[in-house]
This record gives sequence, C-alpha cells and structure tokens, in this order.
Amino acid sequence: MAKLKDEGISVGLAVVIVGDDPASRVYVNSKKRACEEIGIYSEEYALKGETTQEELIELVKKLNEKDDINGILVQLPLPRHIDEEAVINAISPEKDVDAFHPVNVGKIMIGNYDFLPCTPAGVMELIAESEIDLAGKECVVVGRSNIVGKPMSMLLLHKNATVTICHSKTKNLPKVIKRADLVVVAVGRPEMVTGDMIKEGAVVIDVGINRLENKKLVGDAHFESCKEKAAAITPVPGGVGPMTIAMLMKNTVKSAKLKAGRK
Ligand code: GUN
Repeated sequence: MAKLKDEGISVGLAVVIVGDDPASRVYVNSKKRACEEIGIYSEEYALKGETTQEELIELVKKLNEKDDINGILVQLPLPRHIDEEAVINAISPEKDVDAFHPVNVGKIMIGNYDFLPCTPAGVMELIAESEIDLAGKECVVVGRSNIVGKPMSMLLLHKNATVTICHSKTKNLPKVIKRADLVVVAVGRPEMVTGDMIKEGAVVIDVGINRLENKKLVGDAHFESCKEKAAAITPVPGGVGPMTIAMLMKNTVKSAKLKAGRK
C-alpha cells in the first residue's frame, strides 16, 4: 500500500449496510477492520431498515461519482422491500468489487474479467495454494446462488474441471456428492454434508456459516465426520471467510490501479 501511495494512487472502499441484520453487521465490521489493517481508506454508510430503494440507489450513484472511492460494496441481503438486482445494476461496473453487476458477471462467463466475486475467488486461491490440479477432476458445487454457486462453477470450469451444480431439486444428492474429487458446499444448511456422503480422499470446501441455537458457529459440512475421510477440508470459522475478505481487498486495490491506468 505504501508503494501505491508513493505512486500517488489512493485506495478507498465504501461499505453500505441497510438495516440491522446481526450477521451482516459482523461481516461489515470485518471488512472495515481489514481495510484499516492494510491501509485502505474506508467509509461506512449504515442506513435504516426503512430506507427506500430510491434513497439507496441515490447513495450508490453518489458513490459512483466520488473520486476517493474505488470500490462500492452493498452488503446483502437487503430488506425485502428493496430489489437487490436494481441496486446492483446501479453500481458502476468499475467500482463493483463484489463482481455482482451483470457486466462483470458476463465477463466472468467469458473468462476475461477484471474482478472475481470474493468468495469463489477465495476458494480458488485456497485450491491453488494447496497445489490441487483441477483438470479433469469431478467437482460438485452444492448451491446455485449468484454470489457463490454459479460463479464458483464457472471458475472451476475455467480450470478444466468437470463441474456438477446441485440444488434443492437435485435427485439423490448424496450419490452425486459421492463421486466428487472436490466438493464446494454453499447452501446455508448446518452440517448437511456428512462424512458418509463423501468419497475417501475428497477435498471439502465449506462456504457455509451457520449459528446453531447453542450459539456455536458451524459450516454446511459436518467437520468431524468429513475430516476422517477428506484429504483436506476447510474449517468454519477460519477457512473460506478470511479469504473472502482478502479478495475484497485485492479487488479494491485492483480497481484503484485500473483507474490509474495500471494493471
Ligand atoms: N452477503 C453475503 N456474502 C456477500 C458478499 O460477498 N458481498 C456482499 N455485498 N454481500 C454479501
């Protein structure tokens, strides 16, 4: 960051949160803390739950024009009276560090992109760091959200994996999971993937983060049973979560560099 400052490049992130969802508050705080730690300027806009869609879009448009802001992150989910798609569409694609805007989604599809969505990008970093070669591997993605499941599948495909996407209507999910060399679970159902469902030596990547009634945080995979059979498994908390934040920082820095005409 000091090097960028020397070159006259400043980096700024705006984080917008609407309402008082406790999980969103925790995520937003983590994002702000990461900015502080690495020297990215950040602004928080904490809006009341009753904020109208028009007011929120007005703020996004103001941030699009703000010179000291390179990244705009509107924390999802938004209150039900706000159309998320309309808000995402209002974010300038150049400042869309979540890579949720249709322009950025389209670029990812083609494989020629500036930003990757933070969670799938973080998962790909973990896979690369672990020196897992994905070419020809059976990868099963459980969950088809726009934030994780769909882009995740595309990134795995770009690495020449054979990709299966599962969802709530998938027939015989355990059978599909069983054939996976690598399984990514992102459905938000506590401990739904259990050790008996996975192949011996599979890699399990757990994107879920669920709070049980006893306040314990658990993933979408049952860690203890999966650990017995998996070659590698990401813990919750402390696995994919910190990677998501790291990728947000990376995208924000990249946005500032692109604006300055640097790659
Ligand atoms: N809600 C859950 N994950 C995310 C994310 O990666 N970005 C935003 N903006 N909201 C989220």
